[in-house]
Amino acid sequence: MCGIVGYVGSKQAYPIVIKGLKRLEYRGYDSSGVCIGNRDGITVLKEKGKVSDLEAYAAEKDTSGSISIGHTRWATHGVPNRENAHPHFSGDRKLSLIHNGIIENYDSIKKALINKGHTFKSDTDTEVLVHLIEEIKNHEQVSLFEAVRLALNEVVGAYAIIVMEKGVNNEFIAARKGSPLVIGIGEGEYFVASDASPIVEYTRDVVYLDDGEIALINKDADLEIRTIANVSKTPFIHELELSLEAIEKGGFSSFMLKEIFEQPKSIIDTLRGRINPKTKEITLGGILDYEQKIINADRIIIVACGTSWHAGLIGEYLFEDLARISVEVEYASEFRYRNPIINKNDVVLAISQSGETADSLAALELAKEKGATLLGICNVVGSSIPRLTHAGSYTHAGPEIGVASTKAFTTQIVVLTLMAIKMAQKKGTITKSKYHEIITELELIPKKIEKILKKNDQIKKIAEKFKNATNFLYLGRGYNFPVALEGALKLKEISYIHAEGYPAAEMKHGPIALIDDDMPIVVIATKKGNYDKVVSNIQEVKARGGRLIAIVTEGDTTVKELADYCIEVPDSFDGLSPLLTNIPLQLLSYHIALMRGCDVDMPRNLAKSVTVE
Ligand code: G6P
Repeated sequence: MCGIVGYVGSKQAYPIVIKGLKRLEYRGYDSSGVCIGNRDGITVLKEKGKVSDLEAYAAEKDTSGSISIGHTRWATHGVPNRENAHPHFSGDRKLSLIHNGIIENYDSIKKALINKGHTFKSDTDTEVLVHLIEEIKNHEQVSLFEAVRLALNEVVGAYAIIVMEKGVNNEFIAARKGSPLVIGIGEGEYFVASDASPIVEYTRDVVYLDDGEIALINKDADLEIRTIANVSKTPFIHELELSLEAIEKGGFSSFMLKEIFEQPKSIIDTLRGRINPKTKEITLGGILDYEQKIINADRIIIVACGTSWHAGLIGEYLFEDLARISVEVEYASEFRYRNPIINKNDVVLAISQSGETADSLAALELAKEKGATLLGICNVVGSSIPRLTHAGSYTHAGPEIGVASTKAFTTQIVVLTLMAIKMAQKKGTITKSKYHEIITELELIPKKIEKILKKNDQIKKIAEKFKNATNFLYLGRGYNFPVALEGALKLKEISYIHAEGYPAAEMKHGPIALIDDDMPIVVIATKKGNYDKVVSNIQEVKARGGRLIAIVTEGDTTVKELADYCIEVPDSFDGLSPLLTNIPLQLLSYHIALMRGCDVDMPRNLAKSVTVE
């Protein structure tokens, strides 16, 4: 939700900031803007649309200056247009501010400021914050740093901000609460960004600002950090492990396609060092000290949003099936507001690619208050969820930049599988031979996915036949019911075709009424897991004229006779089949979206990291 970048040093700041904004565009892309400080004062450039639109608009303008802040927006308050694009300014236009998050009490602050004579140009909550800082600075006669600190004491909500002052070209101020912020330290220069991707090519030394911290960033001085309660903090410098290659398209036409094709490698990275090659013993270092807690837990409550929630559903099947631990899967946004029962003996597991999703974080905070054990499965190292939880495991999928989640989903399932088998082994709920069978199958998954990826052209041809459909129904049972949900979500997200995922048998209780000759139905009908039941469901669809695309196990003959199109996937253990069946569905959505002229990496209205509730 909005990406922010800042640079202060001796280089030209604008090229660094604009490049950084492009890397952060997955966070929002409805408008963008920069403020550049130079000898003559400030240059402000804003434009509706993507960062490339801002770049085109700025092409003929003077962008010189060695301090700059920039923002790419995902609108919360106020429609996407130039007025509402960041940076926003104080009344005297001396202070400019960029913001990721939401100021929840902006309305009451705004009213108080209007009474004091402030006037506002935009509909945003952000403009209210910069006016509040101005008011405090002028009224209290304090430094900008102190004014920011005092203002943040009055603010309720989430923020990552950078504030700069006209005429002060060697420093700016950054602060965070609830939205991520990383500071890169160079030689006589600093970089600030919502994640490390705009920083990685300049420096590997970074400081992750903690919630409630404010940093004074002066190119000629050491970094100074205080809390909003005015306690001085010593910056802890981390070394970045991110590679530049990982955040570039590497010859693919889109990040989404790159990330789909990266899945065999991502899964190898997820498994790396976690299965002993000789004994096949699983070690998940991050949860080692909590294994007994998990085994003895009354239940595991999985909280997540979007695609991660679908991975959570597969986790439920895995934990219950293999380890016989009772699991509940909750939308984090519902869980946090419905007064749930959480006991000390519950384990609350958040699954999140970004590790920053506001609702998932809030659900964990609630569980923390109730004394539950908090676990995380995240992709972004050092993000907020891993920092809040007692223990957890990273997916190590590498940066996922396409807004529609692909490799993060498959690697989340891999971590859930490792956790479930490990707990099953420790509890003695699976036999030794079953344990070894699953591990062997798991290690074969990357090769099997490679085989499926070779069917890309076949899937493209199927997409061609269905690209003009207006509705889709996705059906699956057991482990593949969440895959049906995920397949439908993927299509909705990137092609804007209405799609619903359903448990195949539930179709009779409603969606069957939708089926006619025009309705494409995607059904997952792999050999294991209620195969015969799914075949009956396929018959029911066929009898009503629906057009069928089936995901089947290699060598299947029964479904092939019924379905219009079949995509084969290799056989596997039922619980691992989502790792395979999901791949053709990702490619199907990808091709349909592309054929409809949609931007697969930046679908309309969406953002990758949802840091507002
Ligand atoms: C957004 C993204 C989805 C993602 C969801 C949860 O909606 O577009 O791809 O599944 O947030 O994000 P998380 O980072 O918590 O997995």
